[in-house]
Amino acid sequence: MKLIEARDYEEMSQLAAGLIIGEINEFPTMTLGLATGATPVGTYRALIQDYQHNRTSYSRVTTFNLDEYVGLHPTHPNSYHYYMKEKLFDHIDIPSHRIHIPDGMADVLEQECQRYEGSIEESGGIDLQLLGIGSNGHIGFNEPGTPFDKATHVVELTPSTREANRRYFNGLSEVPTHAITMGIGTIMKSKKIILLASGLKKARIVHQLLFGEVDNNVPASILKEHSHVWVIADQEALRYAKS
Ligand code: GLP
Repeated sequence: MKLIEARDYEEMSQLAAGLIIGEINEFPTMTLGLATGATPVGTYRALIQDYQHNRTSYSRVTTFNLDEYVGLHPTHPNSYHYYMKEKLFDHIDIPSHRIHIPDGMADVLEQECQRYEGSIEESGGIDLQLLGIGSNGHIGFNEPGTPFDKATHVVELTPSTREANRRYFNGLSEVPTHAITMGIGTIMKSKKIILLASGLKKARIVHQLLFGEVDNNVPASILKEHSHVWVIADQEALRYAKS
């Protein structure tokens, strides 16, 4: 893992966007893995600004999102479909047929997981995957204890993850109990990975990620075994790592 230190959230976002834009310029037909949550919003904003000023084109880029809640329609404001449209896709020139997000409304969720994993393979795999990190170390929605070799699957969200995401909903009872997520096996097959971490509430897990052992209870720790990972963290997220 290569650590890139950023001053603050804005610099972290600019650095991440710079890496992504560099890859797109070099490989215009690349497959990009995308994340949701609060952390990548600034990165997406920087990609949109770059698109407006420099016209970096996404017309031949293919995207796969990490995860989606089960039971939320794509038009639901808390679905990750909605988030991606609002935060990125509506503002760049990516054709809709190149966008892939798991269908949390599928009748047979297991089939949807297999279909999604198959689409990733058909596209030749993910060239660059963007990740956030949950404060319990989850990546995508792979919660602590998830086997490291899993493909796309249905997960039951832990109470701490539902609690962390409750701020977007009208109360805990509205937060979905399940999600579809790329597995850690899927994520580890990506050729390159960028993991973003910002803010004090990520300081404990970033310390563990940088200095701890590979541990099944810290899903992100497996990234230590990947050959090409950039961790871009701001000073608050690095608070314990530097003391
Ligand atoms: C969510 C998402 C993850 C995200 C994480 C951190 O549960 N499924 O992909 O990385 O939580 O979110 P945030 O960036 O809001 O801290």
